[in-house]
Amino acid sequence: RQYEHILTSLPSPGIALITLNRPKALNALSSPLFAELNEALAAFDADDGVRALVLTGSDRAFAAGADIKEMKDKEYSDVYQNRFIENWSRITHLRKPIIAAVSGYALGGGCELAMMCDIILASPTAVFGQPEVNIGIIPGAGGTQRLVRAIGKSRAMELVLTGRPFSAAEAAAWGLVSRVSEDVLADALALAGQIAGKGAVAAQAAKEAVNVAYEGSLAEGLRQERRLFHGMFATRDQKEGMAAFAEKRKPTWTHS
Ligand code: HXC
Repeated sequence: RQYEHILTSLPSPGIALITLNRPKALNALSSPLFAELNEALAAFDADDGVRALVLTGSDRAFAAGADIKEMKDKEYSDVYQNRFIENWSRITHLRKPIIAAVSGYALGGGCELAMMCDIILASPTAVFGQPEVNIGIIPGAGGTQRLVRAIGKSRAMELVLTGRPFSAAEAAAWGLVSRVSEDVLADALALAGQIAGKGAVAAQAAKEAVNVAYEGSLAEGLRQERRLFHGMFATRDQKEGMAAFAEKRKPTWTHS
């Protein structure tokens, strides 16, 4: 399927790449763009041949935020009744791991979109920020919640209240991104390749378990983790993986 605002491809076996592609607007996240993004995500999530995804933008911008020109004349009753941006969070319901490869601006909704991915890799050029306060609003797609969990309350509060952009180096030092990489897209694809090389059932369960820790209480997280762990013993990949270890050979996954 050809999209208007995004590009999709399968750069190597098991890996899907989605590239935000509104260069003239620095990949501002309009409603039509998000509808296409959600469609592509759903299609790749349903495709058994895909085991990991990478989401990226251009060198200049991952995404410079929600589309301000689209939002500027909206009224409270519009955005409330039509549940504006509610469909943005669909990416967080993906079963498969998704890595954000961020170069250039990741501001406002762009920073929030990156934070909805499972792993963020940043180019040295990346500029993150939650500048909503500068246009009279607050982050609305998780910025006030996920940033706090990622970097702590005081830093998140400072950034959300001032709108100050922050660098890739800061994001890495604070743990928002896992690393800074000179060739961020190549490294994200390599990382996706590593993940796609694991058993798909274990990868899905591992993602689910980490997200439980991220989202909920420790006690509930540990209970859910144990249940998911027990469930691993119902998979062929567990038998294969442990047999391969005992036999001193590499496992051949059936992803089942
Ligand atoms: C719509 C945008 C845009 C945006 C950039 N553009 N960001 N259009 N929405 N968020 C457009 C500009 O209008 C311009 O179009 C073109 O992209 C290039 O941008 P310039 O400003 O000319 O580029 P530059 O001078 O290099 O500045 C880059 C920038 C700046 C620092 C990133 O564009 C900027 O501050 N953008 C807004 C960032 C922001 O506030 N984001 C948060 C949005 S609120 P023309 O047609 O003039 O060439 C948000 C809320 C999320 O995200 C809450 C949940 C929905």
